[in-house]
Amino acid sequence: MSRRVFLVGGANTPFIGKGHPDFIWKNHPDFGKRDNPGLEETLQSAVEAAFAVTGVDPERIDKGYIGNFVGELFSKQGHLGAALAGSHPALAGKPMTRTEGACASGGLALLCAIDAVRAGFDTILVAGVEIQTNESARVGADYLARASHYKRQRGIDDFTFPALFGRRTKVYRERYGVSEEDIGRVAVKAYGNANKNPLAHMKARKMDLDTAAAASEKNPCFLQNAEFAPYIKMSDCSQVSDGASAAIVVSEAGLRAMGKTPADAVEILGYGHATASLYEDGDLTQLHTTALAANRAYAAAGITAGDVNVAEVHDCFTVTELLMYEALGFAKPGEGGLLAREGVTDIGGRLPVNTGGGLIGFGHPVGATGVKQVVELFRQLKGQSGAYQVPNAPRTAVAANMGGDDRTSVVTVLRNIE
Ligand code: CAA
Repeated sequence: MSRRVFLVGGANTPFIGKGHPDFIWKNHPDFGKRDNPGLEETLQSAVEAAFAVTGVDPERIDKGYIGNFVGELFSKQGHLGAALAGSHPALAGKPMTRTEGACASGGLALLCAIDAVRAGFDTILVAGVEIQTNESARVGADYLARASHYKRQRGIDDFTFPALFGRRTKVYRERYGVSEEDIGRVAVKAYGNANKNPLAHMKARKMDLDTAAAASEKNPCFLQNAEFAPYIKMSDCSQVSDGASAAIVVSEAGLRAMGKTPADAVEILGYGHATASLYEDGDLTQLHTTALAANRAYAAAGITAGDVNVAEVHDCFTVTELLMYEALGFAKPGEGGLLAREGVTDIGGRLPVNTGGGLIGFGHPVGATGVKQVVELFRQLKGQSGAYQVPNAPRTAVAANMGGDDRTSVVTVLRNIE
């Protein structure tokens, strides 16, 4: 019998970058006077907040994992296991490991924590961090392109990932006759949810369907690749954000030792992890690797897609959210757009998705995203999400975190224990 695994909560820092009111940029009154928080400070804030919100004594931590993609490039800082050990005085000397799987780095940190509990450890710290705004979006796009098969795919456009997903948008729309409006609804939902979330990168930016459904001067198509340019507008993209997240994963013994019961926690029923070859592209109208991870997660948890009440999915671009609905079994192939159109995935819908704004609205500090997703789901399952709390006490939740163009996927199933 595998040991039971629990999440006792965690915390996210504000996710900030261009478009966030506190982000120091050319028009900000503090421009030139002070800097935005860097990697060290951001990570420390998340770890301290996770200990504060859960009440977990940092001395109890047995080991830790930290997700980060390209700290060496954006922050000239690698060796982030040691950065995690330095994020709180009580962590010095404890075993800490960095995980890297592009934008699924945080999801990988989480599953290492789950495995550690199953292997006999009791109290594990999971964190994720990425700082990306100290370079322009164009330079950052070259760094992020390391998540693709760089030699083969970098040349698709200066903005490699927006172009790779412009390509998916094109083939998906052509195969299923999906309208730009149906895809634009994903952005409208993301910004609308972010407007209710005080930690969201896009908390102050509005998005309406007219803007999201057609290119305009204020919402341009920006790729140079002529074939894919019409399929990606600014509003279709996740944000270039700075931020960190931290959470605490424990065994039953770990729960007892900290004076908590399963009712204070959320049980992690299981996860699925799948990795596809970096060197080949499959059918671009489907996220095969995520579907594989989802099937493994559902089997491990003993649930089906129909049991899910709330989800966090990897909406790195608007089309990706629709493809995620399909890979997770929420919609049939080509029908993801119907869920968005019918309001099923709105906060008040039958299956709310990305209630805090997702990667498009909340932001996407890539190494933090997979950890942020489960912190968000913990808060939803415990009724702690404030202005964006879903009604009707959700019980079962799913997180889907994806690295690269569906090359690494981590899907996790959580359940509230009442
Ligand atoms: N008209 C025409 N073109 C315009 C324009 C306008 N009004 N405004 C901007 N542009 C063009 C310009 O070419 C500009 O580039 P330059 O300034 O270098 O010429 C380009 O658009 C970008 O403009 P900005 O730098 O002003 O825009 P920004 O900083 O607000 O960034 C964005 C916007 C490019 C969409 C950026 O948010 C972005 O790159 N988002 C995607 C981030 C990303 O790809 N993340 C990874 C997702 S993939 C994943 O999750 C998996 C994985 O493993 C990587």
